[in-house]
Amino acid sequence: MAGRCRLVVVVVVVVAAALLAAAASAGGSGGKSARFELLRLAPAASLAELARMDGERMAFISSRGRRRTAEAASAFAMPLSSGAYTGTGQYFVRFRVGTPAQPFLLVADTGSDLTWVKCHRHPAAAKNTSSPLPAVSSHQRTFRPDKSRTWAPIPCSSATCKESLSFSLAACATPSSPCAYDYRYKDGSAARGTVGTDSTTIALSGRAGKNAKLRGVVLGCTTAYSGQSFLASDGVLSLGYGNVTFASRAASRFGGRFSYCLVDHLAPRNATSYLTFGPNPALSSSSADAASCSSPAAPPGARQTPLLLDHRTRPFYGVTVRGISVAGELLKIPRAVWDVEQGGGAILDSGTSLTMLAKPAYRAVVAALSKTLAGLPRVDMDPFDYCYNWTSPSGRDVDVAAPKLTVHFAGSSRLEPPAKSYVIDAAPGVKCIGVQEGPWPGLSVIGNILQQEHLWEYDLKNRRLRFKRSRCTH
Ligand SMILES: *[C@@H]1O[C@H](CO)[C@@H](O)[C@H](O)[C@H]1NC(C)=O
Ligand SMILES: *[C@@H]1O[C@H](CO)[C@@H](O)[C@H](O)[C@H]1NC(C)=O
Ligand SMILES: *[C@@H]1O[C@H](CO)[C@@H](O)[C@H](O)[C@H]1NC(C)=O
Ligand SMILES: *[C@@H]1O[C@H](CO)[C@@H](O)[C@H](O)[C@H]1NC(C)=O
Repeated sequence: MAGRCRLVVVVVVVVAAALLAAAASAGGSGGKSARFELLRLAPAASLAELARMDGERMAFISSRGRRRTAEAASAFAMPLSSGAYTGTGQYFVRFRVGTPAQPFLLVADTGSDLTWVKCHRHPAAAKNTSSPLPAVSSHQRTFRPDKSRTWAPIPCSSATCKESLSFSLAACATPSSPCAYDYRYKDGSAARGTVGTDSTTIALSGRAGKNAKLRGVVLGCTTAYSGQSFLASDGVLSLGYGNVTFASRAASRFGGRFSYCLVDHLAPRNATSYLTFGPNPALSSSSADAASCSSPAAPPGARQTPLLLDHRTRPFYGVTVRGISVAGELLKIPRAVWDVEQGGGAILDSGTSLTMLAKPAYRAVVAALSKTLAGLPRVDMDPFDYCYNWTSPSGRDVDVAAPKLTVHFAGSSRLEPPAKSYVIDAAPGVKCIGVQEGPWPGLSVIGNILQQEHLWEYDLKNRRLRFKRSRCTH
């Protein structure tokens, strides 16, 4: 066992050294971490608006699943949903690219496998385009690859382009042409550009003014796009699981893991959440990692469950749900609903707001919750099926506690979200059962509202998901 353990450690260090070409001080998967502020910028959206966007994203999630299985060979364009990046219900991070570093604001998205920024092409190159898409205009904040000493295009003949970038175009004009991508959106909008590598600069946590450079990060330079989807941000930070995602890359430099804590979605806009690469001080188990060869134990107060990095759900992160209980009673939900093999399965998604449960699970959950709430007057409120008037005739909120909902994961861990995460304030005095019905067969999606007020750690190295109740105040 000890020998096997040492081998694992050596492999990790070699991989880190080879991939990163980082400063000698990087220290493999040492105790350093880097932290981004997660910002919410768009004005608060109505729940109906959130549900509409979730629906479009769901179309993306399910079309992606199909593409991976049936159309993998023929498809060159990755379908994404329109509205996935409009900014509402999304979290943004500040991100610096190139040398010297140019600042951007990107959507942090666990469902993306390409990090890209809007790019400004050299005027001569911009003229020679067969693309019908309008070019990124120069008054927008754009990345200028020609102004970065460290930008290196990836040729379309390279193995990286052909094998690792699932979204790259198959056609290659000449072997040295840059590796091109064409993201197609459900509503006909699209983003096009070429892929290269460049350095990114990230702030190290707990060390004011101290930065780390991550070299050779795969980055898309989007020179043309259409659609409303990209107006709110300068691009997308890929937190999905894949060979070239930012999450995989940054995690390999910082302890093999990343984490985020989402404040209440109704909290003031200035309340800050963080995205952390490396050990999170609030969930610190790094010393335990070093001491034990097996998977690290969850620190006190934290729960853990296997993280499923299945090719069928990539770049999304899957979890094994064992069941859901309401008020202590385990609901009767067919096992197939949680089983990827049988057309089900569950993923965690930072880009979906409302949790979406495949039909049989949805039916069981709302039946159980609504039974307990049956004494309250029903109210119609889009997009939910079950809304209640929580105001008594005297004008005060009625004193009815929502029943406790528990999601049971593999590994005997339980997510016990606060009631406000699933019986949601929809209007003054009105609360709704805040889950949506998803198609069956189909994936269920644990959205960012159900994830709120928890710290979530994606331990890619050990394939573990850890979570812990937190107010996310620091
Ligand atoms: C314009 O682009 C096409 C295809 O990418 C290329 O074959 C052609 O040589 C380019 N023309 C000029 C003037 O750069
Ligand atoms: C990741 O890279 C490996 C080895 O290069 C390759 O076999 C695999 O298909 C890649 N996976 C994805 C999702 O691109
Ligand atoms: C947010 O802003 C409000 C008022 O503008 C202020 O009272 C509050 O302290 C701020 N909170 C944080 C976390 O900065
Ligand atoms: C809820 O009930 C209160 C008191 O019965 C009433 O005044 C209020 O208008 C109702 N609200 C809605 C949204 O129906």
